[in-house]
Amino acid sequence: MRTLLNRSELACTDVGHGEALVFLHGFPFHRELWKPQVQAFKSHYRVIAPDLRGFGASDATGNVTAMADFAEDLHDLAATLGLGRFVLIGHSMGGYVALSYAHRYPESLRALVLLGTRSGPDSPEAAAARRALADRTLQAGTDEVIQAMAARMLASPHPPASLQAEVRRLMGASGPPGLAAALRGMAARPDAGPWLGDIQVPTLVITGEEDAIMPPAEAEALARAIPGATLARLPGAGHLAGLEHPEAFNDLLRHWLDNLF
Ligand code: MLT
Repeated sequence: MRTLLNRSELACTDVGHGEALVFLHGFPFHRELWKPQVQAFKSHYRVIAPDLRGFGASDATGNVTAMADFAEDLHDLAATLGLGRFVLIGHSMGGYVALSYAHRYPESLRALVLLGTRSGPDSPEAAAARRALADRTLQAGTDEVIQAMAARMLASPHPPASLQAEVRRLMGASGPPGLAAALRGMAARPDAGPWLGDIQVPTLVITGEEDAIMPPAEAEALARAIPGATLARLPGAGHLAGLEHPEAFNDLLRHWLDNLF
């Protein structure tokens, strides 16, 4: 389905009934990253997974998409879909958005799940490199982004060819304008660290023990700073734990949710 919001139009999966789980993908993915979770949870929950602005089938608008812009899109989406309080699950860049959302709209959250993400901003050097990558992406297309990231996504050094192909397919579905705007938005994102102590909903922080993009130390720091947060490590998983080890990831999430509802 496509949902017209105040500020943009988002493509969005919305299936099942019950407590709402909202899944936010990371960069440079789109909602199909969550296909194993949509399949696993739709029989017991209402499962919502948008393509964030500029990704997948959602329109790109503007030169910079701040994490707060994505969070405002989510706020519009939640209102349009009539969600009450919901469980927000963010992967990597989706985690940056989830933290921005938790800061802006704490009353809308039932619980928070942060996967392969962190609270800190880019260093000045990392931000400059991202801005330069955004410029090159607009000039030359998305190949460089995909090449640079694809090799580091999975824990296994010899993943099945079908899984490798799926990762590249998922990374290849978004155009240069959306990716460049998100790169610039990530480069400018604020430090979410000062907000973490205010989070009052149950929070699960998940890390793949072999995550080469977001080292487990980031998750450990998040879990220490968020009051009462639970830290879970997935052995043998890289940055895309939900795709590379869907059963282990889904079991972990299911058990944690079972204790909430
Ligand atoms: C992601 O997976 O969303 C990105 O690696 C996050 C980032 O580049 O900071």
